[in-house]
Amino acid sequence: MAGFRYAKLGPAAIIPPQTLVNAPAGNALDQLTATVESRGPVVLPALLLCDFGHLAREVERLEEAGAVGLHLDVMDGRFVPQLTYGMVVVEAVRKAARVPIEVHMMVEQPERSLADYARAGADIITVHIEGLAEPRRALETIQSLGPKAHLAISPETPIERLEPYLDACDGVLVMSVEPGYGGQAFNPVALEKLSSLTMIRSQRNASFRLGVDGGISAETAGPVAAAGAELLVAGSSVIRSANYAQAIAELEDRARAAA
Ligand code: DX5
Ligand code: ZN
Repeated sequence: MAGFRYAKLGPAAIIPPQTLVNAPAGNALDQLTATVESRGPVVLPALLLCDFGHLAREVERLEEAGAVGLHLDVMDGRFVPQLTYGMVVVEAVRKAARVPIEVHMMVEQPERSLADYARAGADIITVHIEGLAEPRRALETIQSLGPKAHLAISPETPIERLEPYLDACDGVLVMSVEPGYGGQAFNPVALEKLSSLTMIRSQRNASFRLGVDGGISAETAGPVAAAGAELLVAGSSVIRSANYAQAIAELEDRARAAA
């Protein structure tokens, strides 16, 4: 093996810039925004619990069921205990999907891989306030790469941590469970946060989108929408249902009736 050297393989080597065929789907995101503005809250199914052996089929089934966007949970086994998937899977979903993709980054030092997820085809990149050394800089970096920049906040973090950056983000994702696992019970602390953020948004005449993630079900979809949530991330209540279309429609109906 004399003379053999391993090439230094960084993320850029996994998806070389010249294969940048998956530019963010600007039109699809505009469509999602138009749907929220005309029809009210929408459900973004989270793929976390789907059948990854048939990923493209799952994406197709969710789109056929009426999903107007998808939520992808990237976990690194450090920021949260679980390890899920990274940019290769995001890229595969991008190829299979027509709707916009939100990449929810539950990773340490997300700044290091923003460009890779933008290149992989994220339309929205959501980063946790708890994991950012320089939140404003990270948000600006995401926006300069093309995707919308959303800030996520965990249940135990007070919204005061977000407030200085609300003018710089395109959306806020209020976590209603501890990040890291699907199928957890809804934590009502999210309702207070959503209500406060709704109030702050109107006081400041700001326009960030409000999302909620975790424990969204037929029982909680109405209350979160009444508190201001527009993007309802739903994992188990959609993926573990017998009928994706019915599950999405029920959540959206309840949310829209309460909004
Ligand atoms: C949790 C993830 C969620 C998860 C939601 O860390 O951020 O997106 O998939 O799953 P449910 O809807 O089952 O709580
Ligand atoms: Zn998530």
